[in-house]
Amino acid sequence: MDALECIVGRQSIRAFLDRPVEREVIEEILDAARWAPSYKNSQPWEVVVLTGRKKEELTALLIELLERGEKPTPDIPEPESWPGPEAARIQELYRMRAEATGIDLSDPAVIRKAKKANFAFYGAPAAVYLFQEGSLSQWSLFDLGLFAQSFMLAAHAKGLGTVPQAFATDYAAQTKEFLGIPAEKRLVLGLSLGYPDMGSPANGLRPGRDPVDSFTRWL
Ligand SMILES: Cc1cc2nc3c(=O)[nH]c(=O)nc-3n(C[C@H](O)[C@H](O)[C@H](O)COP(=O)(O)O)c2cc1C
Repeated sequence: MDALECIVGRQSIRAFLDRPVEREVIEEILDAARWAPSYKNSQPWEVVVLTGRKKEELTALLIELLERGEKPTPDIPEPESWPGPEAARIQELYRMRAEATGIDLSDPAVIRKAKKANFAFYGAPAAVYLFQEGSLSQWSLFDLGLFAQSFMLAAHAKGLGTVPQAFATDYAAQTKEFLGIPAEKRLVLGLSLGYPDMGSPANGLRPGRDPVDSFTRWL
């Protein structure tokens, strides 16, 4: 697979085969992702990989917190509103997802169910958390995004599927405690990782993108 094919072919995967991912493969993906660029080569990323019992325990903890009605307190707060064009794209995504999977994310009652699926890492055999020092600037958050994309592309190149999950950071303090991460770190993103089940309708969703001329100006 060449680089362009890899970039365009990656999609979020939300249903996985019941097949474990070998540690060596995850190491290989991380070994590629560490070549992501970063501000002054500061490499502001830290990673936790969970599989097996540990991952199940975290899922149980997150679902318990949700069911107890605990208020989500992610380190990076969920946006309260979106400007017009972005809001319209989100509505379009919700419409597509409702059509493909019956899950209507504009319905608050359904968000609970969707959160549980997120907390279960969509049945993936591995969960990955990305975090960094809490005192780092916005540039470092940008760097972690580059790392995350590199990770997802490397996984895709190895035949694996991923989905980046802001929801997986809902209970940041409790998650950090569970993972043994100091409270002052910034929990940025959770990801599911596994072999994709391409027969699942959950993976049939391919949200579109606006054309190049809609966001580019040539001077
Ligand atoms: C920062 C970030 C947070 C996201 N959070 C979630 C999430 O919590 N749950 C989820 O299922 N997908 C999540 N997504 C995936 C997006 O919905 C997805 O990338 C987008 O709809 C485009 O689809 P594609 O990745 O298949 O191209 C997130 C993506 C990003 C970049």
